[in-house]
Amino acid sequence: MSIDVAEVQEAAARLRQATPADVVKWAMTRYGRGMVIASSFSIEDCVIIHMAAQAAPADVRVFALDTGRLPDETYLTAERIRMKYGVQIEWFFPDRAAVEKLISAKGLYSFRDSLDERHECCGIRKVEPLSRALAGRDGWMTGLRNEQSVTRTDTPEVEIDRSHGGIVKVSPLVRWTMGDVRAYAQQHRVPIHPLHDKGYPSIGCAPCTRAIKPGEHPRAGRWWWEDPENKECGLHLPIAPEPA
Ligand code: ADX
Ligand code: SF4
Repeated sequence: MSIDVAEVQEAAARLRQATPADVVKWAMTRYGRGMVIASSFSIEDCVIIHMAAQAAPADVRVFALDTGRLPDETYLTAERIRMKYGVQIEWFFPDRAAVEKLISAKGLYSFRDSLDERHECCGIRKVEPLSRALAGRDGWMTGLRNEQSVTRTDTPEVEIDRSHGGIVKVSPLVRWTMGDVRAYAQQHRVPIHPLHDKGYPSIGCAPCTRAIKPGEHPRAGRWWWEDPENKECGLHLPIAPEPA
């Protein structure tokens, strides 16, 4: 389907005050199986899967990027979600030759050496597979929230994702706090990733994610050796405003 930019802009304006469930409902009703949910199986993503299953159970499509470095708890949560909601999870792996070349040349922890090395690893293990996962889709849903980081404070519920070919990007939970997400998950019995109860507000690759200490920023455990403004891996690049 080719995306009607004016329609998406109108929906974006209208849905700014909507509840997350209404945003999900709009995305599922409007795009059906053309809309896919990107899931790291964090609590946010599982809540979105639950909302989508409520809105349009036959149309729920979920994909996950297996970087090769995910914690075991992520696979366990993926299985719980697959069974509870009866959804097929499409897994995307990095290009085998690119990973083999990277780790043979630079070892298994090159991402700790510099920001460039970290971006190289994320580029191979996440960003390139994401572009394959999104090819041919009308849109994708993500669990981004405004309070997560300085790079996400302005992320809207609905936008045109020009970095992935002008498809629709929907982030229903942008305005929710972690408390809102937890309350919804508990009320609706959504499976919760076990690491969330072990001090991990944010879920990523095992060697690049650690538990946070009380009072630390929720993303302090992601790439903890880097500055806060660098804490993106390229999945969610800032989208520049529409040219005039
Ligand atoms: S990241 O860019 O720093 O890795 P983060 O972990 O905050 O992203 O997750 C934000 C959203 O990106 C998630 O809610 C999910 O929609 C998507 N996402 C992150 N990691 C993955 C993954 N491995 N597979 C699929 N989607 C992912
Ligand atoms: Fe590589 Fe770490 Fe990025 Fe995962 S989060 S792709 S291990 S640098």
